[in-house]
Amino acid sequence: MKVLFIGGTGFISTAVSRQAVALGIQLFHLNRGQRETDLTGVQQLTADIHQPADVRLALRGLAFDVVVDWIAYTPEDIERDLALFQDRVKQFVFISSASAYQKPPTHPIITESTPLANPYWQYSRDKIACELRLMQAYREQGFPVTIVRPSLTYDTNFPIAIGGWASYTLPDRLKRGLPIIVHGDGSSLWVVTHSDDFARGFLGLLGNGQALGHAFHITSDEVLTWNQIYATIAEALGVQAEFVHISSDFIAQVAPDLTGNLLGDKTWSVIFDNSKIKTFVPGFQATIPFHEGIRRTLAWFDADEKRRVVEVEVNREMDRIIAAYRGK
Ligand SMILES: NC(=O)c1ccc[n+]([C@@H]2O[C@H](COP(=O)([O-])OP(=O)(O)OC[C@H]3O[C@@H](n4cnc5c(N)ncnc54)[C@H](OP(=O)(O)O)[C@@H]3O)[C@@H](O)[C@H]2O)c1
Repeated sequence: MKVLFIGGTGFISTAVSRQAVALGIQLFHLNRGQRETDLTGVQQLTADIHQPADVRLALRGLAFDVVVDWIAYTPEDIERDLALFQDRVKQFVFISSASAYQKPPTHPIITESTPLANPYWQYSRDKIACELRLMQAYREQGFPVTIVRPSLTYDTNFPIAIGGWASYTLPDRLKRGLPIIVHGDGSSLWVVTHSDDFARGFLGLLGNGQALGHAFHITSDEVLTWNQIYATIAEALGVQAEFVHISSDFIAQVAPDLTGNLLGDKTWSVIFDNSKIKTFVPGFQATIPFHEGIRRTLAWFDADEKRRVVEVEVNREMDRIIAAYRGK
C-alpha cells in the first residue's frame, strides 16, 4: 500500500508512521521538515501545505492508494484536498476531533452516532464543517472518505486540560512544588489515549474498503477522573501535587482563551464506546494504561534537555487564574 500523510511527524502521526513502516506500508510524508524525528523508512516530500504551487510540485508524478490529511482544520483545507485527490485515491482519511461531539453531551457514553454540535469551540465547529463537506462529496461523487476523530491522544506531549500540553511546563511546575489548576472538582471523567494504541486501531482502517463513508473514534477503554490524570503525572515524577480546583466557568471568565478547550471539551464527562473500531479492526484493543504511557512520555523528555521547554506565558496565565480565584 502506498500512503501519503500530510503532516506525519506530529504527536499522533509519528507513532502511526513508525508502525506503518514496520507493517511494510510505503509511506510518504508531506510537511515542512521542521520537526525532530527518529523516523526511518519514510519518503520525505517537503512543502508547506498552504503553498499550492509547492505542493503540486512536491506531488508531481506520484500516485497514492491512501492519503491521510492530519492537518486539515477548515472547509477551505478540505476544498483544496478534494481538488488535489478527487478521483485519484482509493481512500482519503480526514483527521477530525472527538471535540466535535455534542457539548455538553446529553449522554456520557459517546458513540459515533452522538450528534456533532459544539457551541463553545470554533475549532470543533470547523472540524464538523469539514466532516459535512466530505460526507457530501462521499454521497454525491463517491469520494472515498473515512473520518477519524481522535480524543486526547499523547506521546511526546501531555494529555492535560490546562498547563501547556506541548511543553514541559506542567511537570516543571509540579517538580518545583507550585500549585496546578484542575478544572471543576476534578471528578469528571475523561479518557486519554497513547498514540501507539491509537496507531494500531488507525492502521487497521487504511485500505479497509468497509471503512469508506464511516467515522470512527479510537480511544483507550481506561476511564479516569481529572484528579487521577494529574495525580498519575505527579506520581510518575515522584512528587506530591498541590491541586487548586477551580470551576471551568470561573477559569473561562478569567482566561477566555481556555473557553473552547474547557467548556467545549474537557469540562464534561465522556466515556467512549469503542465497539465500532473493534468491529472494523478485529483484535484492536488499547493496551497502554496511563500510568505506563506517561512514564514513556516523561522518559522521552528526560532523554534530552532541549525538549524540556517551559512556557513562561502558560505559567503566567496559571498564576493569574489562581491569584484571581484566591482573591489576590
Ligand atoms: N492529539 C490530540 O489529542 C488530538 C485530539 C483531537 C484531534 N486531533 C487532531 O489530530 C491532528 C494532529 O495530529 P498530529 O499529532 O499528527 O499533528 P501535530 O502534532 O499537529 O503535527 C503537525 C504535523 O503537520 C506538519 N505541518 C504543520 N504545519 C504544516 C504546513 N503548513 N505544511 C505542511 N506540513 C505542516 C508538521 O511538520 P512540520 O512542522 O515539519 O511542517 C507535523 O508533521 C489535528 O488534525 C488535530 O485536530 C488531535
